[in-house]
Amino acid sequence: MSDGHFYLTTPIYYVNAAPHVGHAYTTIMSDIIARHHRQRAEDVFFLTGTDEHGAKIAQSAAAAGRSPREHADALSAQFRELARTVDATNDFFIRTTDEHHVAEVQRQLTVMHDNGDIYKGSYGGWYCTACEAFYPEGDLRDGNLCPVHGTPVQWMEEENHFFRLSAFRDRLLALYDERPDFVLPASRYNEARRMIELGLEDLSISRSQISWGVPIPWDPEQVVYVWVDALFNYWTALTYAPGAPERFWPPDLHVLGKDILKFHAVIWPALLMSAGIELPRRMTIHGYVLKGGEKMSKTTGNIVDPFPFIDRYGLDPLRYYLTREIRFGEDGTFSAEGFDARYHAELANEYGNLLNRTVTMIGRYREGVVPPDRGRDAELAAEIDDTVAKVVTAFDAVDPTRAADEIWVLVRRLNRLVEERAPWKLAKDDAAAEDLDQVLFSLAAGLRAVSVLLWPIMPERCGAALAALGQHADGPPLAAAAFAQPLAGTAVAPCPPLFPRIEVEP
Ligand code: MSP
Repeated sequence: MSDGHFYLTTPIYYVNAAPHVGHAYTTIMSDIIARHHRQRAEDVFFLTGTDEHGAKIAQSAAAAGRSPREHADALSAQFRELARTVDATNDFFIRTTDEHHVAEVQRQLTVMHDNGDIYKGSYGGWYCTACEAFYPEGDLRDGNLCPVHGTPVQWMEEENHFFRLSAFRDRLLALYDERPDFVLPASRYNEARRMIELGLEDLSISRSQISWGVPIPWDPEQVVYVWVDALFNYWTALTYAPGAPERFWPPDLHVLGKDILKFHAVIWPALLMSAGIELPRRMTIHGYVLKGGEKMSKTTGNIVDPFPFIDRYGLDPLRYYLTREIRFGEDGTFSAEGFDARYHAELANEYGNLLNRTVTMIGRYREGVVPPDRGRDAELAAEIDDTVAKVVTAFDAVDPTRAADEIWVLVRRLNRLVEERAPWKLAKDDAAAEDLDQVLFSLAAGLRAVSVLLWPIMPERCGAALAALGQHADGPPLAAAAFAQPLAGTAVAPCPPLFPRIEVEP
């Protein structure tokens, strides 16, 4: 974070087919990070959008019987809608067909050209249109198949403009030496570093056989390679998004899937070095959402549609499930059974029930007003504040799954407190009145902390929980989670179950 600013981005999504849970995953994880940083009173700019040029889009448009522009308009609208549906708090939605983006890409390419980093040459290689990338023969799967999609690659040969990527090897290695957290997690840092060490080939950055793209300013017969056009979105967006957001540069965090590591961790910094632009601070690489052991992908067709899950369980449970089930940075499997199990065992029973019991008991035994802290449970007070610190540390390391796990340790601790202290028994004993005060106060303080900390993951349900506890519900600051924050004397209000039981269809 720099000067109280925090700029984070998702990849921009290809508009070749409708969004699926894999895209929702990246946007939701990014949104959770954005919301957490806003809770820390940082000035956040959160960017997402769509990647609309190139052969892949032109081909899918042709297959749909539409012009590339019509196709891009229709599908970009679906991705914009997805961001809204998953409650993403993005500050801007960029489209690479925006005229300001196009003009700024051309401007930066001209700078790179003027700096002598772009030259004309010819190239032949195996190309995967789904990846929009060339692959060396050794990287292909048997039968000339793309290593990512398992679909056939094409031999492509043409005269192009080339970016002198090879000339940036030493500067990139120096960058990696200086900044061991440039790429997270460390395994991906090592992977990217190895790519650089092994040597880099110059990169073809234009295409002559397609027209759906940004024209090369000094050679309009060619269009800019879609990946170069796309990567610059992180920069161009700040040049024209409303609110003069230039001050947010450089990005504090790029969030992306492991399929596009090389583009972000090797090519992108070299492009910026050539253009003379300050580099992003960090990027974090997450794994795949798998279905049946395979990466969910539009190209292979094994996708899960997020909308039926949102219809049945609500959005927040989906956000929670993705955070907990798929360890951030690793692959994880999305399954309807796993979703239902976590919903009922964790959300309905451990969190939702605990809230209801707590509010009901404060209603029954203390007339709906949180009793005073009797100073009899310093251990739990320390555990609550410790959880806040651990969640901050987890987010500093960009690990939302670890953050959720830490919060859940506290949820379970609070459930144990109820079982062990049995407030309904204390209520029958006048001599135990202060003990009962303590248990009820500790539960309310614990649930407040849990709900503030979980709010970036489940903004709507945690907002309802905080409202039931008489707390600020919309975008609660992190400071509100501290045990010492005023709470005694607050009126609580019963609320409908946060996570009602859902009957699974037979
Ligand atoms: N357009 C490029 C990115 C350009 S960024 C300058 C692209 N688009 S994509 O739509 O194919 O994928 C974008 C991102 O979507 C991936 O990096 C990843 O974050 C996310 N995912 C797509 N499928 C996914 C899964 N099955 N699982 C997890 N994330 C997935 O690449």
